[in-house]
Amino acid sequence: MSPRAFVIGWPISHSRSPLIHHYWLEQLGLPGSYARVPVAPPDLATFLANIAVLGFAGGNVTLPHKEKAFAACAVTTPVAQRLKAVNTLWIEGGQLFGDNTDVAGFLASLDADVPDWDKSVDKAVVLGAGGAARGIVYALHSRGIRHIALVNRTRSRGEDLQRQFPEVEIDLADFAALPALLKDADLLVNTTSLGMVGQPPLDIDLAPLPAKAIVADIVYAPLETALLRQAAARGLRTSGGLGMLLYQAAPGFARWFGREPQVTPDLRARVAADIAGKS
Ligand code: ATR
Repeated sequence: MSPRAFVIGWPISHSRSPLIHHYWLEQLGLPGSYARVPVAPPDLATFLANIAVLGFAGGNVTLPHKEKAFAACAVTTPVAQRLKAVNTLWIEGGQLFGDNTDVAGFLASLDADVPDWDKSVDKAVVLGAGGAARGIVYALHSRGIRHIALVNRTRSRGEDLQRQFPEVEIDLADFAALPALLKDADLLVNTTSLGMVGQPPLDIDLAPLPAKAIVADIVYAPLETALLRQAAARGLRTSGGLGMLLYQAAPGFARWFGREPQVTPDLRARVAADIAGKS
């Protein structure tokens, strides 16, 4: 039987993951399939307990299941343990294994868009304090970024994040403090949902950022957010969310289907066209 994989979430209809994995299956000439499976929160435990019975080699996990899926795993990778969340599952020796590939995905994307970015970044400003922000803070710390200013609407969530990463120097701030924070920031990362299609805009002025600063946005719909457009107009180096989406998918594919896939310009163009509604 050819390997089957899934992406579970609630809702899940918007997921681009099937497009990415079917592209790789076709390019590499491999048998297999990848399905969107809507799993409501009350049904998660039953689904996870039956992955092998349902004929799946494993799959991806998205909102709102990443933390509960972590708790259901028999074995997890160190990065998943640090974030207490998984986005990639597989069955090994009859047991459920879990990894979090969002961190590696974000770093691979930034490495590709702005080579050697970490050599010039000392101070980073991170917008947001949700699940995505946790992965980004961990990623930046893993590359030796020493100072992180975390800006979030709800201060208590920032405090939770601070407590989760006692080894990282995180200063909490309000959006009102941004103009001062941006003055000596080397990197700005948006991890909030602001600026995403259907969400409120992310209304910040990038004028105070130094000319050498880098601006990254993990939002990928639209492909070029207003934040990235403003940064590009100022001549700053930028990194969009599409790369993270593509790179985080690769380790799961290798586990379920047995070959390392490549993030190519052609794949980027296919998924970009889908996001832009052109395909
Ligand atoms: P994810 O797991 O994708 O990070 P999340 O945990 O719901 O999702 O986090 C969403 C982030 O976007 C949070 O930082 C949230 O701020 P709060 O912690 O104050 O809720 C931020 N966010 C979402 N909508 C926002 C808005 N209208 N204004 C400011 N921040 C917003």
